[in-house]
Amino acid sequence: MKLVPRVKVYYGKEELLSAVNLFAKEITREDFERAFAQKFKNRFALFFPYGRVALYSFFKAMKIKHKEIICPAFTCNTVAQAIVLSGNIPVFVDCEENSFNMDIFQIEKVISPRTAAVIAVHMFGYPLDVVTLSEIVKYFQNKFGNKIYVVQDVAQSFGATFKGHLPTLFGDISIFGLGISKIINAIDGGMLTTNNEEIYSRTKEFFLSIAKECNWTRELKKFIKFLSYFILLRENFYWIVDLLEKKGFLSSVQKYYREDVIEFPNDWKTIPCNIQSRVGLVQLKKYDKIVELKRENAKHWMEITKNTDIFFFPYNPEATYSRCVGLSPRRDYWIKYFREKGFQLGKVNYLLPRMKAFSKYSKGNYKIAEVYNRQNLIFPS
Ligand SMILES: Cc1ncc(COP(=O)(O)O)c(C=O)c1O
Repeated sequence: MKLVPRVKVYYGKEELLSAVNLFAKEITREDFERAFAQKFKNRFALFFPYGRVALYSFFKAMKIKHKEIICPAFTCNTVAQAIVLSGNIPVFVDCEENSFNMDIFQIEKVISPRTAAVIAVHMFGYPLDVVTLSEIVKYFQNKFGNKIYVVQDVAQSFGATFKGHLPTLFGDISIFGLGISKIINAIDGGMLTTNNEEIYSRTKEFFLSIAKECNWTRELKKFIKFLSYFILLRENFYWIVDLLEKKGFLSSVQKYYREDVIEFPNDWKTIPCNIQSRVGLVQLKKYDKIVELKRENAKHWMEITKNTDIFFFPYNPEATYSRCVGLSPRRDYWIKYFREKGFQLGKVNYLLPRMKAFSKYSKGNYKIAEVYNRQNLIFPS
């Protein structure tokens, strides 16, 4: 009973050895942070329990409050959660037509002297035009005379480049996701990177002032979580997860954010455990290899679906394809079709202004985001 899971985790014996820490080599959070900053060419990195907590801590540390934060209408709910929980107001922008990213030219319509930041989310591994975005933000910054921060949210894209430009070299900060559905993972987690020493020190100081150390029970829980991913997210065993999912036993474990309530997970004020740094560091070393596999995988799905009604944006060699996403007006048909062939496809609900929690921030229409939300079809990758 083979079933290829929609989320593939590239764990091997190196991750297992580092998780059990057989050789007792103590790897600290700082080791992981240093290696991460270096890999993505920033001076500083801070490891958080979740990516959303990194974003939240940045706003809190920089005393950004009651301000408008521009972000995409079509993205992961956690982005808007961090904006609202930090006491700010999300301002949604529709997508562009030739990628899943926000249409940066529509920023002009919503930017105002109340805008404190623009969150440039690089969706599903597709790079956003960081150069033009910087020009737009600089223009309005000069016009209004206020600082407007640029946050490169590369949680889903990591090192995807736009015409050779790495997003981490453009914004004030970058946010990475290190949960299970990301390119590489640290079991759970998120990273903030920056070249700005003041942002680094203030954000670190803020988070450490509210967070507690990981204790041994949490360390054990993360180990169990690691083992379950290691064993179950493989095509020979995934039917067990599938069965539990169908019976509804996994809903509380899988749903790591809710669409109707604005809240963070219970453990959001915990400093990441050592096991997370150890696994994260091994994964970081495999980053380039994993991206290559994901690109090959995306090409494969594009090829085998080319004479169907499934549409893919043209292959972009600079995208990392953290998620392999197509569009189809018949996505439920295709989910069923591929399932019978042993592949679990999925879909995401990313239309923030139509979610109960954020509908009060909705202004105008989000026509393209609506289509992407209705038609997105996620292939295993
Ligand atoms: C675009 C985007 N930003 C931020 C995050 C936040 O990551 P986390 O789930 O670790 O809070 C995610 C992850 O789901 C994401 O997809």
